[in-house]
Amino acid sequence: MINIGNKERLKELKQALGSLSRVPLTRLPTPLEPCAGLRLELGGPELWIKRDDLSGLTLGGNKTRMIEYALGEAIAQGVDTVVAGAGVQSNYCWQLAAACARLRLECHLLLGALPTEKETEIRGALLLDLLYGARVEIIPSVDWEVIGETIRRRARELEAAGRKVYIGRVGQESALGINACGYAAAALELLEQAAEKGLQIDQVWVCSSDTTQAGLALAFKHLETPVRLVGVPALPEPVVPGWSFPECISHFANQCAKILGLKTRVLPEDIISIPDYVGEGYGMITDASREAIRLVARSEGLLLDPVYSSKAMAGLIDHIRSGRIAAHERVVYIHTGGVPALFTAGDSLGLEDRLIASQAKGVTV
Ligand SMILES: Cc1ncc(COP(=O)(O)O)c(C=O)c1O
Repeated sequence: MINIGNKERLKELKQALGSLSRVPLTRLPTPLEPCAGLRLELGGPELWIKRDDLSGLTLGGNKTRMIEYALGEAIAQGVDTVVAGAGVQSNYCWQLAAACARLRLECHLLLGALPTEKETEIRGALLLDLLYGARVEIIPSVDWEVIGETIRRRARELEAAGRKVYIGRVGQESALGINACGYAAAALELLEQAAEKGLQIDQVWVCSSDTTQAGLALAFKHLETPVRLVGVPALPEPVVPGWSFPECISHFANQCAKILGLKTRVLPEDIISIPDYVGEGYGMITDASREAIRLVARSEGLLLDPVYSSKAMAGLIDHIRSGRIAAHERVVYIHTGGVPALFTAGDSLGLEDRLIASQAKGVTV
């Protein structure tokens, strides 16, 4: 018998999620697939992958589940315009731009980038933002305070012009709780899907610095599941200055609990967050993340991204190789998407040696 937690609480969580305003953007459930090829390469535990890179809304990713709840609430309040921002290659922003296109909301994106030619080239996420019709302005700074303030200023200007504005994540951190609800729902989905497959999950690994892990942690704790949840942040520091990752994640989990009307509270000591795989900084490829991208592509025919999903996979691979995850355990890795960034990283993956020089002689073109 598979233990997916306390049945009464499962019903309570489902009802609470069902009572929120939500706009459907995803194709759920996302597949839960075995990773036999990767297991062959690594040995060790039984490996599964939850394909949130296929969550729908074009190219998928973890933010789409969150945007369903965040925009659901905003639309219920009569919002007609969205203002958001982050780094120029933000996955959140392109998923938000796609959602706005589908929901016919005006979308303004203020994207921070160093003013170099490469940073502002129309590729990856920036290419998608523009295609989805967002009004994009590049801010020549990668300071979150500066980006947040610019977003709030733009929102005030639009409100003065009569628009009803929703502000996205950066610039309005109090909105992270509603975003986390998307992953409380994902936890439920995963547990039910695993039960159908007769899979008793021992560990779940995911790349997260805040909201994804917050929603999962709340649901797993509320349901009293025995699953060990491990988050690997892709940021060197948490979004709230001076706080630790567990403090941040438990704080957003509790914001989510309040929105859902649940009594459960998550404590920092409930959170396992391993910030050892970021490398030199946000978005910087490490030897381990490069190897993770190449290994998963070769053994599973699956793509990871250089900024997020490969960092969590690097952590998981390291823990398997070093024997910190036992061979009898069943591990689910949640793929959070981000693949558009892979196509901006061709010169960092060390693939040049795999190109076979032409052996043809005497061929004229
Ligand atoms: C592809 C991808 N994975 C993981 C994350 C981490 O999400 P969070 O820290 O909000 O849980 C992000 C955040 O932007 C992302 O784009």
